[in-house]
Amino acid sequence: MSVQYEVSLVTGDFPKAGTIDRIFVTLVGSRGNSEKVRVGLAWMVDKIRKGSVRTIKIQCGNDLGEILLVRLYKDKHTLLPEDSWHCQYVTVKAPNQKVYNFPCYSWLEDENTLDIIEGTARRKAEYRSTVLEQHWVDELQRRQKAYQWSTYAPGIPRCIKAESSDDLPKDAQFTLDRKVHIAFNIDSALLDLGLNPLKLLNSVWNNVGEFRRYLDFTKVPVAAHVMKHWKEDTFFGYQYLNGSNPQLIRRCRTIPAKFPVTDEMVSTLLGPNTTLQQELQKGKIFLVDYELLDGIPAHSISGDQQYLEAPMCLLYVNPQDELIPIAIQIKQKPGPQNPIFLPSDSKYDWRLAKIWARHADTQIHQLVSHLLKTHLFAEIFCVATLRMLPNAHPIFKLLMPHLKYTLDINTAARKLLISDGGVFDQAFSTGGSAKLQILQRALEQTTYSSLCLPEDLASRNVEHLPRYYYRDDALKIWSAINRFVDSIVNVYYQDDGSVQEDSEIQAWAMEIFTEGFLARESSGFPTVFHTKADLTKYLTMVIFTCSGRHAAVNTGQYDWGSWIPNSPSTMQKPPPSEKEKVGKLDIMRTLPGKKETALVVATVYLLSKTSPTSTKLGMYVEERFTEAAPKACIEKFQQDLLQITHEIKKRNQALDLKYEYLQPDLIENSVAI
Ligand code: FE2
Repeated sequence: MSVQYEVSLVTGDFPKAGTIDRIFVTLVGSRGNSEKVRVGLAWMVDKIRKGSVRTIKIQCGNDLGEILLVRLYKDKHTLLPEDSWHCQYVTVKAPNQKVYNFPCYSWLEDENTLDIIEGTARRKAEYRSTVLEQHWVDELQRRQKAYQWSTYAPGIPRCIKAESSDDLPKDAQFTLDRKVHIAFNIDSALLDLGLNPLKLLNSVWNNVGEFRRYLDFTKVPVAAHVMKHWKEDTFFGYQYLNGSNPQLIRRCRTIPAKFPVTDEMVSTLLGPNTTLQQELQKGKIFLVDYELLDGIPAHSISGDQQYLEAPMCLLYVNPQDELIPIAIQIKQKPGPQNPIFLPSDSKYDWRLAKIWARHADTQIHQLVSHLLKTHLFAEIFCVATLRMLPNAHPIFKLLMPHLKYTLDINTAARKLLISDGGVFDQAFSTGGSAKLQILQRALEQTTYSSLCLPEDLASRNVEHLPRYYYRDDALKIWSAINRFVDSIVNVYYQDDGSVQEDSEIQAWAMEIFTEGFLARESSGFPTVFHTKADLTKYLTMVIFTCSGRHAAVNTGQYDWGSWIPNSPSTMQKPPPSEKEKVGKLDIMRTLPGKKETALVVATVYLLSKTSPTSTKLGMYVEERFTEAAPKACIEKFQQDLLQITHEIKKRNQALDLKYEYLQPDLIENSVAI
């Protein structure tokens, strides 16, 4: 007896997602396959439009049993150019009215076939069908061919093999609307900002007023605040808490021998009736140490030697709960040629010492906190996920939305920012080989624990630092992600044994350890998951890295980095070796020149842009999970995030300078800019 299946195909809703090519469908069931049926009209060019839903009926001589796969084919027209098609979703209604869901979210290119597995999440051991087992093998083989590891430089995480965006599989590329919006074009950014006249000027700034005339911060309140307050000590301290690089500060328990600050030096700042020792014991003294930069040779820009040092800054939480700097030493090795600068020194000595600290912070922020610890780590997770987990795996479904577009943005970053002759080489003291040395050192020092937020805060001993909004908001985000991941893991793993038996997830962890963290055991990165708790913590770390951690260091780049005296990309003069030798003009001659300033401002402007098509944390526009249980977990996660948004907005109402970078409705779901 003939039976009929109703098949609906949803096309992606963005430019160029539709096709004029011919699409065909076959249903693969547990009891046989259907005929291959054309979608649309057979005798003419029938365009499948973006965002459309096409429904066809497929007649079969007998019941196909459970529908396991939908097989899609694309043929191009003989005389017309190839036209790729983005299939978003397919549903199949069986004769018994049962509806099967097939999330796809893939491009079909050239004259190819694509098998989509039914949407129920499952691990390999749960396939129980030779058809599906073969599908598993084919899918991973295809992915491992399409997504290959490459070594960009020794000692840094391996990355995707692609020279440019066009080398990436189309599924990993930005959709056209996003590509157009983001387009990394420094020249157009310079024009937008009115900085074009500066790009050919090799001269230095004579005074900051000259620079101020080029910048319009009327629509950028944080940048306007930076411009107004950058010389103030309270503002300088505040940046370590809530600026664009808020993860470095740690409590100081004893003054390091290499930074011999004495009680006498700081006693006027600490006030009467206390000592440095007492304040250390009370937990009021903090340290930021840029040791990682020590000994890295600075780059030359256009033949001019630049300067790079590794300062240390001691900070104090005063009785008004303000964090203020109380001593800065510009180089690591103490000695008479390396004075400890103090707020009581001359105005210009102290200002220049702070600028040296800000310069070091700018390098660490861009190369370590931002590039390495969010972009490159997210790329490791992305490539490993694509290579080791098939579409049906629950952890693939969980993670893929948090890994979207990362390969494309990183490929662009490698090409334009850190390439030979790129922005770093043109405007940063850490251009040339310095940037790679810094990335290598930073990777060597990265531990699993340091990426797990609660452990990082505990090791830095900053749980009680006042007005540390980054910490407060990040902990809320971490906890919400953790509860969400825990709920998903509970749906798919009955006990610890089921985690241990999941060969796919174990292979995934090993791939990350080997390719990303270069098999360095001292990193503490797990190579195996023994328990559900192990897996939950790890997945929380992955999603937090790709969302909250990135937002905290990415979103404020233009806010904090466009007023160049506050975030100098390079230093053109060496640091003073004695006090009372520098004046205002020395500071201007040390800061980046006009050309470098223009380039850096244009770059941070581009890197801070949010796309109108961006997806915010917890918004799963791709419905990869089809069952009710994970959908309920997602809904709860979204409610949690909404609550956090309300709390942050409420807190911010009382603040002069709002901290919004970790407001969930402003956090991107993945590293995509
Ligand atoms: Fe970024």
